[in-house]
Amino acid sequence: MENRKLVIGNMKMNMMAEDISNYLKDLQGIKLSERVVICPSSIYIPYFLKQSYSVGAQNIFFRDSGPYTGEVSASQLASMGVHYALVGHSERRGYFRESDQDINKKIVSALKYGLEVVLCVGETLEEKNLLKTARVLKRQLLNDLRNLEGNDWDHVIIAYEPVWSIGTNVLPAKKDIEDTIGYIKGIVSEYFNYDDIPVLYGGSVSERNIEDLNQIPNVSGFLVGGASTNPKSFLKIIEVAVK
Ligand code: PGA
Repeated sequence: MENRKLVIGNMKMNMMAEDISNYLKDLQGIKLSERVVICPSSIYIPYFLKQSYSVGAQNIFFRDSGPYTGEVSASQLASMGVHYALVGHSERRGYFRESDQDINKKIVSALKYGLEVVLCVGETLEEKNLLKTARVLKRQLLNDLRNLEGNDWDHVIIAYEPVWSIGTNVLPAKKDIEDTIGYIKGIVSEYFNYDDIPVLYGGSVSERNIEDLNQIPNVSGFLVGGASTNPKSFLKIIEVAVK
C-alpha cells in the first residue's frame, strides 16, 4: 500500500439521472485520481467509467450468472470495467440480512474476477454499549475472510465503520479509531498471517472533520457516504487525504 490515502465515495441510493452530468463535471477537478474510487448506484455505473478515478460497486451477488432476478455479479461488474466492490456494508447486513457466510462468498467471488474488495466491518451502538466491539469485529473478520489464498490478500481492504457513526455526525475519538484499526490489523496478522492490511475509517467523514481524522497514524483512507454526494465536500476530503 502506498503512503497516500485512498478515498472511496459510497453514494448509496442517491441522485437522479438528471443530476449526474453536473456531478461528473464537478468531479473533473479530481487530481491524484488513482487513489479515488466512486461507488454510484449500479444503474449509473456506465456514466462513471472512463473518468480519471476508479469505479466500485456498492454490492455484488456471489453467483457468476443465472436465475437471480435483480442481482449483479462480480463477473458482470468486472466485464464493465469496475475495479472495486464494497462488501458487507452495515446497511446490507442490517436491512438485507446478509450473513457473514454470504459476505464470505461475495468476497471469494469478487477476488475470482479481479475486483479489489472493500470489506466493511463495525459494531452497532448496542454492541458498543455492551462492550462487545472487539468480539463483533473478530467474528466478522474471521468469518468474512475465510478461504482466501496467496495473493488474494493483496486485494483486500478493510473499512472500519462503527454503525452508530454512519450518517449521524457522531464520531469515535481519534484514539479509539486508532486503537480499533490496530486491533483489526492484529487480528488479520494473527489469524491470517497477513501483515499490515490497509484499514479505512468510515462514518460521518466530512469536509469539517477530515483534517482531524487524517492525523490518525494507522488509517489508510476513508469511506465516505453522505459527503460524497456533495462534490464540494468530496473534493475537499480528497484534497486533504490524497496528498
Ligand atoms: P456516512 O456513511 O459518511 O454518510 O456516515 C458512510 C458509509 O455508510 O459508508
